[in-house]
Amino acid sequence: MAVKEDLVKMLNRGIELEYSARIQYLAHAEKIKGPYSEKIVERLKEIASDELKHEEMFRNLIANYLNGSVSMKLEAVHDATSDKEIFEVNLKGEKDAIDFYKQIYQKALEGKKELQYEYETIEHELRHIIIDEQEHVVELSLLLGL
Ligand SMILES: [Fe+2]
Ligand SMILES: [Fe+2]
Repeated sequence: MAVKEDLVKMLNRGIELEYSARIQYLAHAEKIKGPYSEKIVERLKEIASDELKHEEMFRNLIANYLNGSVSMKLEAVHDATSDKEIFEVNLKGEKDAIDFYKQIYQKALEGKKELQYEYETIEHELRHIIIDEQEHVVELSLLLGL
């Protein structure tokens, strides 16, 4: 089943993006200092906890719905120093993730007929994750004053 194999590959790249995003948010959260830092740190850690949920969703799809093997690799991570740079680098990461998840969504849609017992679950989970990432875009944009 070509579609399933393609989806496993793409979802594995997705889980690698999630691992890296979570690590990056948690490391960046420790760099935020100053009088307004508490709320910002809280926000970054909250986003990191969403990324953890996404990892779990991807793992479930890969292993239980598509009979695939779950990646343990990481995508590239990007360091940043100033608060502004931290928000910018993560905002870019969120947008890149959304672009890629929409490609996965499209792939699943194209393969719908071959996914008789999986499609709606895959579609639902991907939609949920994309909506969360869009929320992260809004939150980071607000922190940047955009
Ligand atoms: Fe995510
Ligand atoms: Fe995110």
